[in-house]
Amino acid sequence: MNRRRRIYEGKAKVLYEGPEPGTLIQHFKDDATAFNAKKHALIDGKGVLNNRISEYIFQRLGEIGVPTHFIKRLNMREQLIREVEIIPLEVVVRNVAAGSLASRLGLDEGSALPRSIVEFYYKNDKLNDPMVSEEHITAFGWATPAEIDEVMQMALRVNDFLVGLFLGIGIRLVDFKVEFGRLWEQNDNMRIVLADEISPDCCRLWDVSSGDKMDKDRFRQDLGGLIEAYQEVARRLGVLTENPRPKGSGPVLVSTNGMKPN
Ligand code: TMP
Repeated sequence: MNRRRRIYEGKAKVLYEGPEPGTLIQHFKDDATAFNAKKHALIDGKGVLNNRISEYIFQRLGEIGVPTHFIKRLNMREQLIREVEIIPLEVVVRNVAAGSLASRLGLDEGSALPRSIVEFYYKNDKLNDPMVSEEHITAFGWATPAEIDEVMQMALRVNDFLVGLFLGIGIRLVDFKVEFGRLWEQNDNMRIVLADEISPDCCRLWDVSSGDKMDKDRFRQDLGGLIEAYQEVARRLGVLTENPRPKGSGPVLVSTNGMKPN
């Protein structure tokens, strides 16, 4: 497995060369980092859960017509994806004041925002992913005005869908971060697609009834119980069967009236 060519290693994932040109394998690690990797831990099983949760969300988004890089899940930790040129922006959509928005603008954490807000951060660890405006993005050529429009529309569409999906399982989608990539097709056609992952690592998810945090803030704020929270998100989404059927317990041919199975 590890003889595959490694294309890129990030804080929580590794990208390997895929089996066909234009494909990659996205491997989910157990590493949890926060504050630009100043805080780091290995959390056993996190990668497996994020692989499943992200697969589920990308599939559901694909079904409603949101183009994504996802092709299929390969195993517990890996998925096959289309190779895209990542637009160097972290696109954050917020529904409720929390995190850096609450502290930057002095808002009460948990207060509903007048409408969903989209923010852009320049993906650059050395600079700590600074917040940028459309002016910066177009002036420095990270994306064109038309691409920014498309990214914003897609991010809001993803938000509308995810707010409903999570509300249906008793979870408030406070905010999340997504990334987009350029997918080059035949005839030099280019499409913008949703890339990276959507998992409790890059969302704020609060239980509707208790207000409990079910996301990476459990790690950032030393609340403990991260794996249990991610498991609960997976369970409510229906991607974890609590009692997986043991191997070999499939249908059995039963002979009746003395007839023998051949
Ligand atoms: P923030 O409130 O810290 O700016 O985070 C907004 C959302 O983006 C939150 O759901 C967590 C997510 N996020 C990431 O996925 N990666 C990051 O590096 C940061 C800072 C936030």
